[in-house]
Amino acid sequence: MKYDFDKIANRKNTGSIKYDFFHENGLAEDTIPLWVADMDFSAPYEVTEKLKDIASHGIFGYSDTKDSYYEAVHDWFSKYHGFETKPEWMVKTPGVVFSIATAIRSFSEEGEGILIQRPVYYPFERIIKANNRKVVNNALKYENGKYVIDFDDFERVLKNENVKLFILCSPHNPVGRVWLKEELKIMGELCLKYNVIVVADEIHCDFTYPNHQHIPFASICDDFAQNSIVCTSPSKTFNLAGLQTANIFIANNTLKQKFTKSIHATGFGGLSIFGLAACETAYRFGNEWLSQLKDYLYDNLCFAKEYLKRNLPNIRIIEPEGTYLLWLDFSGYDLEERHINDIIRQKARLWLDEGSLFGSEGKNFQRINIACPRKILKDALLRLKEALTDIK
Ligand SMILES: Cc1ncc(COP(=O)(O)O)c(C=O)c1O
Repeated sequence: MKYDFDKIANRKNTGSIKYDFFHENGLAEDTIPLWVADMDFSAPYEVTEKLKDIASHGIFGYSDTKDSYYEAVHDWFSKYHGFETKPEWMVKTPGVVFSIATAIRSFSEEGEGILIQRPVYYPFERIIKANNRKVVNNALKYENGKYVIDFDDFERVLKNENVKLFILCSPHNPVGRVWLKEELKIMGELCLKYNVIVVADEIHCDFTYPNHQHIPFASICDDFAQNSIVCTSPSKTFNLAGLQTANIFIANNTLKQKFTKSIHATGFGGLSIFGLAACETAYRFGNEWLSQLKDYLYDNLCFAKEYLKRNLPNIRIIEPEGTYLLWLDFSGYDLEERHINDIIRQKARLWLDEGSLFGSEGKNFQRINIACPRKILKDALLRLKEALTDIK
C-alpha cells in the first residue's frame, strides 16, 4: 500500500494541543504549529482499522494484554534494533515522561542529583524539580555546528554532584544526535563506576537518517542492561501520543520491583484498551508505513536544508542524525531571542519551540518539527523568509 503523506488533514476541533490552542497562547488562528513532537500524519491503516473495530464493539471494560502484545513489541526491537528483551523485563506505563518521573522517585531521594545533558527535552528538568531533586547538567559542547559530549565534565559531575540517575536522551532531542556505540560505552562505564543508574529515553529510536544507527543502551552489554531502565513507546514512531502507551524494559529484577512498587503507589491500574491495541497492531503491521514515512521525512529534511541555505543563510542548521526535529541556530542575526520569538510568532505566524526552553544552552536556537506534509513545511519556511527579510 502506498501512503500519501502529502495529504493535508484538518486537525482543528479535534482537541489537538497543536491546532486547537492558538488563542490561549496569544497566537493568530492561522498560525502554522511546528512545535510539539507529534506528526500531521494519520497512523498506519491497520491501526486505524483496529481502533474502529474496538470502537464499534461499544463495550470498553478494563483491559490487559496477552502474550501476543509482548511478542509484537519484542519482535520489533529484536528485528530493527538488535535489542533482545525478555517478557519479564517489560512494564507497561502511560508514557515515557511518567516513567522517568517514576524512576526519579524510585531510585533517588529528595535533594539528590539527577543528570541531564542540556540543551535537552524540557520536561526532564521540570520533573526533576517537581520531585525536589537537584538538576545536574553535563552541557553538550557545540563545536563547528555539531554537538558532542564533554566526557571530562561528565565524570566530574558524577564524582562531585551526588548524582543517582542519568537521563540519557537517545537519540537526542533537540540536537538530533544518534549516539555512537563508543559514546554510549564511555557514559555507561562511568555510570557503573560511580553507581549511577541510567534511564535511557529511546522514544525517538525509530527515526534515524541514512548512515546512522540507533544503539539501544541496554543492548551493549549485560552490565549496562542490569544498570538501566529503557523507555520505549510507539507514540513518536506511529503518531499515537494521544493513546498514552509506553513499554519500559528493566532487566534488573531488583530495579524492576522498586519501579513497579512506585507505580502501584500512584494508584495507576492499567492502560486503555485503545492504546494497547494500537501499540500491538502498529509494531506488528506498521513497518511498511514507517519505511515510507522515513523516506518522506528525509525528503522534507533535504527540502528544508536547501531552502534555508538558499533563502535564509543567517540561520545555521544543525544536521540531524535522527528525530524529525530540526534544531536551528539563529545567532547569525544580531537580535535578542525575545525579538526573534516575536518575529516568528507574530509576524511569521509560526509556532516553534524557542531554544531557551531546553536550557540556557539553547538560547538563540529554535526547534522546528518537520513531520508534516511538504506543503505545510514550504508555507512555514516561506513565512519565515518573508518575516526575516530586511533583518540582519
Ligand atoms: C525525548 C522525549 N521523551 C519523551 C517524550 C514524551 O513521551 P510521553 O508522551 O510518552 O511522555 C517526548 C515527546 O516529545 C520526547 O521528545
